[in-house]
Amino acid sequence: MKALLIVYHSMTGGAAQMAAAVERGAATEPGIAAHRIAAASAQVADVLRADGYVFVTPENLASMSGVMKDFFDRTYYAALDRLNGRPYAALICAGSDGQNAARQIERICTGWRLKRVADTLIVSTHAQTPEEILAPKTIAPDELARCAAIGAALAAGLALGVF
Ligand SMILES: Cc1cc2nc3c(=O)[nH]c(=O)nc-3n(C[C@H](O)[C@H](O)[C@H](O)COP(=O)(O)O)c2cc1C
Repeated sequence: MKALLIVYHSMTGGAAQMAAAVERGAATEPGIAAHRIAAASAQVADVLRADGYVFVTPENLASMSGVMKDFFDRTYYAALDRLNGRPYAALICAGSDGQNAARQIERICTGWRLKRVADTLIVSTHAQTPEEILAPKTIAPDELARCAAIGAALAAGLALGVF
């Protein structure tokens, strides 16, 4: 059975809901095992044993979150040249922008020679003030449906072997 690894980090809950939606979408494909792992716990062995990837991170200070970056820092060189050609998608939870986090993840995945198989999805929580930014987030159902669709598409492509 092919495996889809979903690595995520979240501080106020938005990216966590998005990652859970990706997993729900992937679960609609019976031939795929989806594993959702918090970035702080994800190890290089998790990366090596997966057949495809979804990375989900907040944008913090015009960057992917530090915990997500730490995941890539810990795993990048141990996995280099061992993932070539595998498919991935990236999802960003942002207050208002998200472009830099998207660029960073795409650049790292290019280094890993992964193949992006969906447009990077940026979900805006429209959090602008410190109070809004620090408040727990609720991602709208239509946005979660877009996350789930990415999970379903990746899982279906993996199952069919089309990537
Ligand atoms: C320290 C910090 C820095 C942030 N910087 C940005 C930023 O540069 N661009 C942006 O669009 N949102 C920024 N945000 C807003 C978060 O991306 C937004 O609150 C998002 O919902 C966080 O995802 P999470 O709920 O999964 O933690 C920042 C939030 C924090 C806490």
